[in-house]
Amino acid sequence: MVGESGCGKSVTANAIMQLLPDLSRIEQGSISYWGKDGLVALDKLKKNGTEMRKLRGEQIAMIFQDPMTALNPVFSVGFQLNEMLKNHFPMSKREATKKSIALLADMGVPAPDQRVFEYPHQYSGGMRQRAMIAMAMACEPKVLIADEPTTALDVTIQAQIFELMNTLKVDKDMAMMLITHDMGVVAEMADDVAVMYMGLIVESGTALQVLGDPTHPYTSALLESIPILGKGKNQKLEPIKGTTPDPYNRPVGCQFAPRCTYAMQRCHEEMPPEHFTEEGHMVRCFKYEELKHGK
Ligand SMILES: Nc1ncnc2c1ncn2[C@@H]1O[C@H](COP(=O)(O)OP(=O)(O)OP(=O)(O)O)[C@@H](O)[C@H]1O
Ligand SMILES: [Mg+2]
Repeated sequence: MVGESGCGKSVTANAIMQLLPDLSRIEQGSISYWGKDGLVALDKLKKNGTEMRKLRGEQIAMIFQDPMTALNPVFSVGFQLNEMLKNHFPMSKREATKKSIALLADMGVPAPDQRVFEYPHQYSGGMRQRAMIAMAMACEPKVLIADEPTTALDVTIQAQIFELMNTLKVDKDMAMMLITHDMGVVAEMADDVAVMYMGLIVESGTALQVLGDPTHPYTSALLESIPILGKGKNQKLEPIKGTTPDPYNRPVGCQFAPRCTYAMQRCHEEMPPEHFTEEGHMVRCFKYEELKHGK
């Protein structure tokens, strides 16, 4: 899932995990999860009910955007891992610590038998991220939601973390929902892509469809605003003009219209519906015919 800052990626992830704030509600749509016991409508479960608490962490786990705020600073990393393990499986403290050490070792944390007793502030940024992944992986979930798991890290560590997540995905037969605003990461990691703008999915399809044949002007604009390595210093980058609209004062019609070079009168009047340009490739734009297959 890609889209610029503030478009609602984290809100979507939190909705799946039923972690939205108390005052919020899901107004439209549904969230279905096909689990061990068949189909579960997640949005119908009580936020803090037994069923949801059982699913959360055990079946669907999440890596949060900011490990410094997601880890508790006053408990050791081991304590936090143990708590997660003991909550879902009956085990003694000793067994839990042993498993926590093994998990940290799996994630490539050096000297895990000592590190397990250390506090989050004693970890480096990359290690904190690994600790977060260890926590998410503790119960071997079937679905992992990773909310920008590497935003705060440098590129080498980022590559290591993604490699680690890819291995886990294959080894543990786990599905992953990756949230990012980095198109390079999408190309590298994703099978399917959804592009979000102002809380709506404006284009979706396989990575090949969306990146190879971007049809929505916003997707194209996102792709044109990234520098390409090796193309030299003189490459022309096209920033997306304007800014995202104020969510309390949304434009009528297509949300991207005020920033779109292809906008016509109709775009300012009604929201384009979902069009399928081919099987699996959805786009919300009136001009999809014209914009398809390169402009
Ligand atoms: N569907 C929604 N309904 C109501 N408010 C929303 C919705 N989606 C997003 N918001 C508001 O927008 C804010 C930003 O959304 P969110 O944190 O999901 O952005 P993001 O895409 O994760 O951005 P970033 O890339 O910066 O993490 C939220 O805190 C919330 O106030
Ligand atoms: Mg976010």
